[in-house]
Amino acid sequence: MKTDVAIIGAGPSGLFLANLLHAEGIGVTVIERQSKEHVLSRIRAGVLEVITTDLLDRLGLSERKDQEGLEHGGFYLARDEHLIHIDLKRLTGKCVTVYGQTEVERDLIDLAEKEGVNIVWSASDVALHDVDGAAPSVSFTSDGTEQTLTAKFIAGCDGYHGPSRQAIPAACGAGFERVYPFGWLGILADVAPCNDELIYASHTNGFALASMRSPSRSRYYLQVPLDEDINAWSDDRIWDELAVRLGAEVAANMECGPSIEKSIAPLRSFVFEPMRYGNLFLAGDAAHIVPPTGAKGLNLAASDVTYLSDALIGYFRNGNEAGLKAYSEKALARVWKSERFSWYLTNLMHRFPDSGAFEKRMQDAELDYIASSEAAQKVIAENYIGLPL
Ligand code: APR
Ligand code: PHB
Repeated sequence: MKTDVAIIGAGPSGLFLANLLHAEGIGVTVIERQSKEHVLSRIRAGVLEVITTDLLDRLGLSERKDQEGLEHGGFYLARDEHLIHIDLKRLTGKCVTVYGQTEVERDLIDLAEKEGVNIVWSASDVALHDVDGAAPSVSFTSDGTEQTLTAKFIAGCDGYHGPSRQAIPAACGAGFERVYPFGWLGILADVAPCNDELIYASHTNGFALASMRSPSRSRYYLQVPLDEDINAWSDDRIWDELAVRLGAEVAANMECGPSIEKSIAPLRSFVFEPMRYGNLFLAGDAAHIVPPTGAKGLNLAASDVTYLSDALIGYFRNGNEAGLKAYSEKALARVWKSERFSWYLTNLMHRFPDSGAFEKRMQDAELDYIASSEAAQKVIAENYIGLPL
């Protein structure tokens, strides 16, 4: 088998890239380890920056997002019952769109299928070969048959644990990492949201987040210790703790109900440099991870893929390699700024097991400053709605 661009991974990065390139007549094959059903059952965040909704619009995928997505002109930071409103619309003129990552993936898969994009689901033993040579290829097993796909370029869109980044020799790149000493316990339930905008709450017991998927489906999170056992958290215990951390006023509007899903995820900041090795280009979680505070993961995948698709289209249209040469540096400049914001918001809003009274007062002072300063709120707002491409 032969194609122009072999794409490893059918998460948002791989699916966006495949559709953007296919629309320009560039040959793509996507190789995904999981089944389509598995990919569409993963629960992920869902706050879209304008650059991400722009990408959906560019692919003609506005309809369902415009109908079902919720435009949010602001969000709240809360400390022990005191709410600080970050008025995104007034401070930046822009909104974010609350639309689950799973829905984005569903729209991208539907489009790919309609347009005849080649996606190999449930591929095993995926391995990269000759990535810095003239004939890069990807080998894999599908339906019990070993296959090899040769390509001009390989796009590593296979997330943090995928094989693409591992194919880069240790001497040719470096990872920068911060692992946080806690996780997020998430719960999804078919209950009305407690508020019409998201609430990020800092409480003595730890961080909590009130989010949503629709007017009848809510998503909440609680900071928990890393080694916490999910079985120790009955639905009732989760709702009780959310009520404590979000405060009485918010809790008065909180509907409780049976969980559809609950799980604990660790928090990590990670960046790999550079995002290119030979003919291999990394995009999305394959190259970087952000803690979910601020919901930047999907949006960073969107900015990487915008840069990478432009670069590949430039190359296949007129042999121009300038975009490909600039890709890593351009993508990383935006990645590090989103990393900084996610790390800042994580440090501001969580309880760290090793920090003491001094650090707590620093957090309190920062939140007091944000509450009283339009300039501070604007800094948060412009990062939250997403920095320009
Ligand atoms: N072979 C093929 N596919 C693989 C392999 C492999 N060995 N390993 C992983 N994959 C697939 C995963 O199954 C997944 O579908 O690569 C895909 C990577 O998707 P994501 O992890 O969603 O990463 P990305 O597309 O970059 O999207 C980033 O998604 O995971 C969230 O928080 C993340 O919001 C961020 C966004
Ligand atoms: C979510 O709705 O899952 C969500 C929202 C905002 C975040 C993280 C997760 O910052």
